[in-house]
Amino acid sequence: MKIALASDHRGFDFKDVVARHLSDMGHEPVDFGTENCSDSVDYPDYGLKAAKAVSSGECEHAILICGTGLGMSLIANKVNGVRATVCHNPYTVEMGRRHNDANVLCLGVDVINHDLLEEMLKLFIETAFDGGRHARRVEKIMDAESN
Ligand code: RB5
Repeated sequence: MKIALASDHRGFDFKDVVARHLSDMGHEPVDFGTENCSDSVDYPDYGLKAAKAVSSGECEHAILICGTGLGMSLIANKVNGVRATVCHNPYTVEMGRRHNDANVLCLGVDVINHDLLEEMLKLFIETAFDGGRHARRVEKIMDAESN
């Protein structure tokens, strides 16, 4: 699976760790920056590029990293077709996929337990959307895009 990655300076080192895990799992991370941890950058610039890669179909999913995950989720959810969820643990990742059909995972490098990262990535990639009543709800979210 092609997975877009982006971070700001705070998430830069962690982005590399995520990329390595994804490659080890047989996936193809596509890096939309930033390029180092020393230059302070604005998370919307990088989150937007990766979210657009999901919207266009270039990548199936995206993983966005900043200090809290919050800023990245705010920018990603501005992009049509994107359902970004900030997740703090394996449970929220699993439910984001099962109930919200999340296609963008936002992680806060200062918030999550790094020991749980691999489990969270696996759940994000391998958990299917439950559909059923959740499909109706997700449809309502997507309908709100045109308002
Ligand atoms: C950058 O200092 C910080 O604001 C950013 O990484 C993120 O946490 C924003 O939501």
